[in-house]
Amino acid sequence: MLENNWWHEAIIYQIYPRSFFDTTNNGIGDLKGIIQKLDYIESLGVNTLWINPITASAQVDNGYDSSNYTKIDPLFGTEEVVDLFFSETKKRGLKVIYDFPLNHTSDQHMWFKEALKGPDNPYRDYYVWADGPDEGLYPNNWTAAFGGSAWTKEMNGDQYYLHIFKKEMPELNWDHEPLRKDMAKVLNYLIDKGIDGIRLDAFIFIDVDKRFPDKDPDMETQDLIEYGENLKKYVKELKASVRARSKDIFVIGEATSADAQRIDEYTQEELLDGVITLSHFTDNDDLKIDELPEMNQHVPLDFDKFKRTQKAIQEHLADRPGPILFWNNHDRPRSPQKYGDMDNYRDETAKMMATLLYLQKGIPIIYYGEEVGMNNSGFEDPSNISDNGALSFYESASELGWSHDKIMKNLNLTVRDASRGIMQWSNTKWSGFTEDAAPWIISHQEATYNVEDQEKDENSILNYYRKLIELKKQPLFTRGGWKLLDTEKKIYAYKRNYEGTQANVFCNFSDEERVIENIVNASDDQLVLSTHDAELKDQKMVLPAYSAFVFVSE
Ligand code: NOJ
Repeated sequence: MLENNWWHEAIIYQIYPRSFFDTTNNGIGDLKGIIQKLDYIESLGVNTLWINPITASAQVDNGYDSSNYTKIDPLFGTEEVVDLFFSETKKRGLKVIYDFPLNHTSDQHMWFKEALKGPDNPYRDYYVWADGPDEGLYPNNWTAAFGGSAWTKEMNGDQYYLHIFKKEMPELNWDHEPLRKDMAKVLNYLIDKGIDGIRLDAFIFIDVDKRFPDKDPDMETQDLIEYGENLKKYVKELKASVRARSKDIFVIGEATSADAQRIDEYTQEELLDGVITLSHFTDNDDLKIDELPEMNQHVPLDFDKFKRTQKAIQEHLADRPGPILFWNNHDRPRSPQKYGDMDNYRDETAKMMATLLYLQKGIPIIYYGEEVGMNNSGFEDPSNISDNGALSFYESASELGWSHDKIMKNLNLTVRDASRGIMQWSNTKWSGFTEDAAPWIISHQEATYNVEDQEKDENSILNYYRKLIELKKQPLFTRGGWKLLDTEKKIYAYKRNYEGTQANVFCNFSDEERVIENIVNASDDQLVLSTHDAELKDQKMVLPAYSAFVFVSE
């Protein structure tokens, strides 16, 4: 299945446009900024870009609240710049994936403004409505992902509209055929414009239980709004329409809760070509305390569970291009700082984690800045954080006696704002991101962990990433078989094999030196990439803290 599609070899670089490079000196990154940095992106060796939404938006959720799917937001540029962007990326052989928030629009979208005119308006059924309750405040007790009820009453009428995210992001009604047809038109437009791939944002929510039953107290709202009975039908229809326009469009879906089984189920020719899940972030939730909201309590990774999850996902997708592999994105704090030790082993942590994940079978997504070991933003004041719940977490934790530093550490390692800091281009006031306008998000200047400094250092994280990406392009790593080796807890070791060539990858995910025995069938001259020199003797090998070693043999 899917044997010869371009995405089998895709190595994706994800850009959060607001934070990448500002050419207008207003503190917000823009599309021209991305164009200006294409040489740099190309120099990494990646072949695909995924950019977070740049189409017109009320910017309540940084572009995920779309007010027009086919126009660029003036914040990011003009239509001419979009055309230039596509011609420049195509010239360089770089594929482009757009984000497509298809589950909701902005309340500023023309469709919603029309829908608000009343039940007879042709756009009314583009959204999900319920009558006012006989008793209580809302049609049911569903809660929105960003807090509060999932329902808001319309201003000039008696009905309520559903919003799984913010109230400014009304849910679209995919049961309504004219809406589905309009969405297919949007995709056709984008395909004609030049996209090579599309990420279906939050697609698992497009078919909620329209009987709107109350959830019982032990139930997550999720059970009533995810993976509805018509979901596959709608995804199939959309995929068929995309394929009819172009055979070569990579269609990925964001399914945050999907486990291996679910990823397998949806990664099918007639459905999706890839699934983005968050289920491999196996935080040790048992360590959380009941007195505080779960969401902002930082806990370490449950590494055993991480291994089991990786194994299950790899094995389920063994006959396909493999899973989507990523440590970082715009919805989570950056993982090296969250799970590794960026205080004492910053270079090692960054290099080892990338090696561990990306040389497995699958399609890597490198989130801007991780290639120079960028950390999270490091907020010092909870009121600078836009994530819901940050302030109230601060208050509750203070009442429990937590210190300011402890609370801020927990917030900085759990809120999504933390990962959205400006790209660190150089060791200058605003890290070379903008000239003198203060960036839109709190930022700190850092020596060494920026592109300019790391270009000069052969052993930098940046140059390690380049070598890793080069290696990843070999069929051994894109197409080869994968097998997890049985090792002690904090070691992650696997084999890859392809037509007689073999790779052994050994990683130590701990701050202690470890020794592995018996599984090392390798010699110094087979070492193709590593964080340290190899100490190999009699099938034994020393793995220093946060080290990674890659051996390849014929
Ligand atoms: C997932 C996106 O990645 C996130 O940033 C956004 O807020 C929600 N979907 C809603 O569109």
